[in-house]
Amino acid sequence: MKTLGLGVLGLSEGRSIISGARQSALWNVVALCDLNEQLGRERCAEFGIDPAMFTTSFDRLLANPAVEVVGIYTPDHLHAAHTIKALQAGKHVICTKPFLDNLSQARAVLDAARTADRRVMVGQSTRFFAPFARQREHFETGAFGELNTIEAYYNADHRWFLAKGWAKTDAFKWLYGGLSHPVDLVRWYLPDIEEVSGYSRLSENGKKLGLVHADTFHFIFKSAGGKIARVSGTYSSPVTPNQRDSNMSCILRGSLGASQGDYYELRYAWKTDNQSVVETFEDQDAHFFRFGGHSHHAGEYQNYIEHFARCLADGSVPKPDVAEGIVTVALMQAMEQSCLENRPVKVRDVLARHGLDDLIA
Ligand SMILES: NC(=O)c1ccc[n+]([C@@H]2O[C@H](COP(=O)([O-])OP(=O)(O)OC[C@H]3O[C@@H](n4cnc5c(N)ncnc54)[C@H](O)[C@@H]3O)[C@@H](O)[C@H]2O)c1
Repeated sequence: MKTLGLGVLGLSEGRSIISGARQSALWNVVALCDLNEQLGRERCAEFGIDPAMFTTSFDRLLANPAVEVVGIYTPDHLHAAHTIKALQAGKHVICTKPFLDNLSQARAVLDAARTADRRVMVGQSTRFFAPFARQREHFETGAFGELNTIEAYYNADHRWFLAKGWAKTDAFKWLYGGLSHPVDLVRWYLPDIEEVSGYSRLSENGKKLGLVHADTFHFIFKSAGGKIARVSGTYSSPVTPNQRDSNMSCILRGSLGASQGDYYELRYAWKTDNQSVVETFEDQDAHFFRFGGHSHHAGEYQNYIEHFARCLADGSVPKPDVAEGIVTVALMQAMEQSCLENRPVKVRDVLARHGLDDLIA
C-alpha cells in the first residue's frame, strides 16, 4: 500500500498523531506547523524530524505538495476554518474531536469537502481504543440480540486543562470538548438519534477556576426507532477510583446479553445467559500510552490513521466522515439548546436552522 504524506497542524495534542504516524508503515510525517516556534523545535527534536519540515505558516504547509493529508489539532473553535482551508488546498483532512463546536460553518465545511472531492474523517479516538473496538466487533456478531439501550459516559478531572489560554474563554465548551466522546459512541450504535433532553450546570470548582460554560451534564436521547440512551460527564472535580469505575465507559444492553467497554484498565466485560467474561487488553498498554501515564492517545490515533489509509486505498469512506461528524455536532447543539430552554429538542430542527436537514433521512 502506498504511504501517505502527513502534515500536522497544532503540535500539542498533535504529538500523538506524529507518534502514531512515525510508528506506522502506512504514513510519513512530511510537515509540522504551529504558531509556537519553541514547541515546533521540541517536536522535531523529540521525533528526530528535520527542523526544515517545521513552519509557523499554515499556508506554507498547505503549499507543500508532499502533504497529502492534514491532521488538525488546533483549539476547537478553529477546526472549521482550518478544515475548509486544507480542503481548498486539495488536501484530505483528519480533524480531531470535537469536529466543530457549533454549526455556523458546517454547510461551508460540507460544501468544501464536496467541491474538493477530498476525504474528511473526524478523529473520534475512543472508537479506536481496543475495548471499544472489540465491543463493536462483538456487537456486530449478534451475540447480544436486539439492542435495547445504551449508557455512555466520560468523567475526567480536567482541572489542569484550564491552564490553556482558550479554555477559560467563551469559545471553550466541555459539552463539545468532553461529551463528544460518549455522544459519538451512542451515535455509532444509534445513528438515528432524533430528540434529546437534559440538564447541565457549571460546578463550584469550574466557577472558581474561571470556566465560562457548564462542566456537568446528564442527557437522555431518543432514536427515531424508539430506542433510548443516556450520556453523562463531569470535568472539574475528582473522579472515582479506576478500580471501581473506568470513568469512560460504554454499556450496551440487548435482548440476549450486555457488554461494557472501559477506558481504564483496557477492560471489556460481557454477559449472556450462558457466559460471563472479562477480557483485558493490557498487553496493548505500550501501543496506546507512549508518553507516560494514561492520558495520551497515540495508539488510538495510529489505529485511526491506518483505518483512514486503508479506506483511501480501497476506495471506501473512512468513518466518521464529514456528514456523520456534522450530525453529531447538531446533536450536541440540540443538547446545548435543551439545557438553555428546559425542554426536549429535535436534532432535525437544529439541522434545518442551518440548512443541513438533507443530512438526515
Ligand atoms: N482524544 C482526543 O481525540 C483528544 C485529546 C486531547 C485533545 N484533543 C483535541 O485536540 C485539539 C487541541 O487540543 P490541545 O489540548 O492540544 O490544545 P492546546 O491549546 O494545548 O494546543 C493547541 C496548539 O495549536 C496551536 N495553534 C493554535 N492556533 C494555531 C494556528 N492558527 N496555526 C497553527 N497552530 C495553531 C497552538 O500554538 C497550540 O500549540 C482540541 O480540539 C482538543 O479537543 C483531542
